[in-house]
Amino acid sequence: MSHLTGLSRRGFLSGAAALSGAAVLPNAIAAGPQVELTAMRAQAQLLAPPRPATPVWSYGGALPGPELRFRQGDRLSLRARNDLDTPTSIHWHGMRVPNAMDGVAHLTQPPISPGGDFLYEFDLPDAGTYWYHPHMGGAEQLGRGLAGALVVEEETPIRVDRDLVWMLQDWRLDHSGAIVPGFDGMHDAMHGGRIGNHVTLNGRPAPRIAVEPNERLRLRIVNAATARIFALDFGPLAPVVVALDGQPVAPHAPKGGALLIGPGMRADIVLDATGAAGAAVPVRDLYRSDAAYEVATLAHGDTPLRASAPNWDMALPSNPLPEPDLASAMRHEVVFNGGMMGQMMMGAEAPAMIEQMRQGRMWFVNGRASEGHDGSALIEAKRGSSQLIAMENRTGWWHPIHLHGHVFRVISRDGRPTEHREWRDTVLMAPEERVEIAFRADNPGDWMLHCHVLSHQAAGMAALLRVTDAA
Ligand code: C2O
Ligand code: CU
Repeated sequence: MSHLTGLSRRGFLSGAAALSGAAVLPNAIAAGPQVELTAMRAQAQLLAPPRPATPVWSYGGALPGPELRFRQGDRLSLRARNDLDTPTSIHWHGMRVPNAMDGVAHLTQPPISPGGDFLYEFDLPDAGTYWYHPHMGGAEQLGRGLAGALVVEEETPIRVDRDLVWMLQDWRLDHSGAIVPGFDGMHDAMHGGRIGNHVTLNGRPAPRIAVEPNERLRLRIVNAATARIFALDFGPLAPVVVALDGQPVAPHAPKGGALLIGPGMRADIVLDATGAAGAAVPVRDLYRSDAAYEVATLAHGDTPLRASAPNWDMALPSNPLPEPDLASAMRHEVVFNGGMMGQMMMGAEAPAMIEQMRQGRMWFVNGRASEGHDGSALIEAKRGSSQLIAMENRTGWWHPIHLHGHVFRVISRDGRPTEHREWRDTVLMAPEERVEIAFRADNPGDWMLHCHVLSHQAAGMAALLRVTDAA
């Protein structure tokens, strides 16, 4: 691993300079007058050499896209260019931006056409780990590689030895290393989405990451896969979760041991490399216990950095999020339906859903399959009001549900209050699970609420929250 934090934090790297060093390792671009990001074709060594490189779509030739690093309160100013032969856009996942900067093609902006460009400019109110990706043809555009991390550092970060981004991506490759086309397959859409057959961490398969014994890492883990859920296991090491979707949470061990991260979601962990000198500790994905595999190896060096793990404080300072008022909150019931083996045949809405399925729509929000930008709102909220969404997953599948423009508290699961009342922008719902979220609708505009399994989204699992100024 390169020491990303070693790159100049406040300096400015031009797009060309960023590109030249970017063939394999992720590169960092720091806050500056203006950054450029170009969506373009590239080659990436996703398979271990000497196997062939893979033709991908990338930002600036790098895979994953350049790591954008800013300081809380900075203003991001970035010119997006499109050198692909298909229209695109950039969404800043998890960042509370003005609606016109949200990057949702056909909803908040016209698509950026081939050869075109778009200026994204907004303040960064919240510290944390965010990411960017196209919001147009997502299953294909993310499935071909378009994604990068957006890190906003705290004014006073917690003390660690190294601060690293781990971008997880999932690929469906054929024997020649090429990406298998067919991003809107009905079989994938009706099941768990387009799950690949090859996982990379920062663009590389199962990298060996050198650590020193008793070194303290802050890992900013981003699940940029289009469908795959990860349950990361660190063997004998004891990860501590300090932020979820960028938002600080009371430091705690992952529930059940493994760190569960659905598509679109992030987790910041503090990890002390407490392996013995010379130890190779595998990081494995146990989501499918019958098909566990290595995501990375933490290769401990021979010389301990210190005698034992440090005991530095891990609690992050909170972000300026508006607290919802549960007593006055408007309550909305939202039911997700559809897919294989669901319960969609039940209830008054069943005939309408069956009719929509004939048109290739497989997933429903309150009985309706939508792309989320046809103008009709699932929820209308007055600016400043508190909202509680009681969501029910009436399907046999997991769904990471993402809300744009706002960050919500996860209030309860299956009727039981959550332990951390965590702030999130994406919440992973298990089959048949009920989850309540609450937030203050303080950001005016039309905002997507959708599943981040991108073939579910494309097949109807999307809706709109409309926040308007009081009349
Ligand atoms: Cu990460 Cu609507 O997107
Ligand atoms: Cu889904």
